[in-house]
Amino acid sequence: MNGKLIGNPVDRVDGRLKVTGKATYSAENHPEGMVYAAIVQSTVPRGSVLRMHTDEAEKAPGVLKVLTPRNMPKPAGLAQYSAIPMLPKLPVMQDSEVFYNGQPIGLVVADTFERAVHAASLVRTTYVDKPAILDIEKARANAQPAPGIFGGPPPGHTRGDVEAGLKAGPVRVEATYVTPAETHHPMEPHATVVVWNDPEHLTLYDTTQGVHFSRQFLALLLAMPQENIRVLSPFLGGGFGCKGLPWGHVVMSVLAAKEVGRPVKVVLTRQQMSMMVGYRPTTVQKLELAASPKGQLTALRHTGISELSEQDSFAETFTAVSNMLYACPNVTTAQQVVRLSTSTPTFMRAPGEAPGTFALESAMDELAHQLKMDPLELRRLNHADKDPEHGRPWSSKSLLECYRVGAERFGWKKRPLAPRSLREGDKLIGWGMATATFPAMRGQAAAVARVLPDGTAVVQCGGADLGTGAYTVFTQVAADALGMSHQKVRMEMGDSQLPLGPLAGGSMSTATASPAIQGAAASAREQLVKLAVADKASPLYGLAEKDVLTEDGRLFSRKDKSKGETYAQLLTRQQLPHVEGKGESAPKEEEKKYSGHAFGAHFVEVRVDEALGTVRVSRIVSTMAAGRILNAKTASSQISGGIIFGLGMALTEETLRDPRNGRVMTADLADYHVPVQADVPKIDVQFIEEEDKFVNPLGIKGIGEIATTGVAAAVANAVFHATGKRIRELPITLDKLL
Ligand code: MOS
Repeated sequence: MNGKLIGNPVDRVDGRLKVTGKATYSAENHPEGMVYAAIVQSTVPRGSVLRMHTDEAEKAPGVLKVLTPRNMPKPAGLAQYSAIPMLPKLPVMQDSEVFYNGQPIGLVVADTFERAVHAASLVRTTYVDKPAILDIEKARANAQPAPGIFGGPPPGHTRGDVEAGLKAGPVRVEATYVTPAETHHPMEPHATVVVWNDPEHLTLYDTTQGVHFSRQFLALLLAMPQENIRVLSPFLGGGFGCKGLPWGHVVMSVLAAKEVGRPVKVVLTRQQMSMMVGYRPTTVQKLELAASPKGQLTALRHTGISELSEQDSFAETFTAVSNMLYACPNVTTAQQVVRLSTSTPTFMRAPGEAPGTFALESAMDELAHQLKMDPLELRRLNHADKDPEHGRPWSSKSLLECYRVGAERFGWKKRPLAPRSLREGDKLIGWGMATATFPAMRGQAAAVARVLPDGTAVVQCGGADLGTGAYTVFTQVAADALGMSHQKVRMEMGDSQLPLGPLAGGSMSTATASPAIQGAAASAREQLVKLAVADKASPLYGLAEKDVLTEDGRLFSRKDKSKGETYAQLLTRQQLPHVEGKGESAPKEEEKKYSGHAFGAHFVEVRVDEALGTVRVSRIVSTMAAGRILNAKTASSQISGGIIFGLGMALTEETLRDPRNGRVMTADLADYHVPVQADVPKIDVQFIEEEDKFVNPLGIKGIGEIATTGVAAAVANAVFHATGKRIRELPITLDKLL
């Protein structure tokens, strides 16, 4: 790889398609004969459907079918699917049980969207009510040990002796932190267009973060061979985790399409996005820290609960960060779940780490205050030089450099220690900071690269671009390894017929796909060189392969740049349709000897109106060390997005349910407050570039989630510095400050 493009701030290769409306999103597909489905939802939080009166809906104009628990077909593989722990128990109307308010209990298919929605409104339902469990504190007595994620070990860790450590450290913090339920709310709602090509073959245009994963789960659920299912998702308007696994509406529309013998489209409403596609569960976390008078941590205990639906298996792994972030000899972490009458919670951007860092990094700030110590200094003092959880070396770690550069750019050393020291008119000013961290992993992927006789290349990998720039960085990786300009390379993604792509989740997409793409492209380039030196008609005939260089789609002699030919000339003369290279990526044993983590630091300034309690974030400096950065432009935009996600968590976002009946009350963007432009100050993002030889061949750590971690704590710490009030329950709304 000559590395010309990697690292360059190349403009988004899909930008023009998007702004001209030529990028087709799932809901924009209109296959011949398509009809529309509308979902009927329960209006009680718990119980069972007694009767559904569907006559009126069935007689309404344009209605083709009304499906309810009484006549819903059974997905042929439901039993096998349900036997796998961790997969959401999709409410696909197989019985009359109601587990939460808003659960799908009916599906109406009609010839237009409006007629489907109207007919759905005509379905009247009576229920047998059961007492709902709606209050996490009241239900706490029934807490259960938290389950592991995807069959992995349950969250929790012990090293040393935490009781002894607590006794050994005279300076203590013991506090409880609460993070509310949050909803992902990507700009683009979930949408599915189902086409049965024939009774055995299914095509799905679906909003998914992973077409191959989606296909795998659907094959299982429908008991169909994977190769008979094609899932397409070339463009996405955000995901944040809620588009990770197929939800009930996908399965129901697949079954409905078969029933009516027509393609079916379902698009969730913004309200339904709060009730059917997962959310980040409420957490109540207890932190106990003990330190020596000089600030050395002697004990850390992090325990607590997260909420869970009645029938599912998911835990928000908020303690994970306490296992690894600081060098502390005595640590115990443990988690429980509390079952409520809610929909299924799921992964939401930085699942675990986002709420976990709020608790841990707030507690560290509280400890620094007690120690009368600079909070940044406390973190430096307790820096973990190796992974304290597993005892392994870090694959690379530049956290101290993140602290140093961030502090300098922010002007941290001018920060007075005492709260309420900075003021401007009626605004109290506060400076806070927190550490950011997220695991760097990779999964499996494959890619194909083809160079064509017209001098262009097509590179394929069935991953997803959530809107973050994956098309762009993958094109850069491919173009570099092909020896071509990126304008000549077309990246194809988001189709399960392409080589196995990664799930765009777990901050793993780029790290997973890039080595496969690079391998495929490098192999195609090598084949071109081999062809040229063996071709008597080539000006490069007879040269050693190593003496042939490539650039901008041209092969030339190392000794004499003028001697050479283009890929197009070579392929045309050889009358080849293309040369094709293949590549694969999977974690290697060697990589497992190291702990891979990205690290960073956030420095935040807030202005709090003392009379009104309003908090405005006026300045953010964030430094991120996340291995090799492939594109500084898309990367810093993604980091800014993650920080804004964190600002929402800190100040505005909260999924509220009606305490009487469990219905989500903040079910649209008027009530569920995501930050808008006016809430976001200038964000100064700085990357500390790392050479990491161990995390994966390209040294990529992933930046999808890390930026969100630590932001809420940095804001809360700044609010404390401004006001002297410690807010331990998110979001930090004005009522909590008055
Ligand atoms: Mo993410 S929560 O890994 O899509």
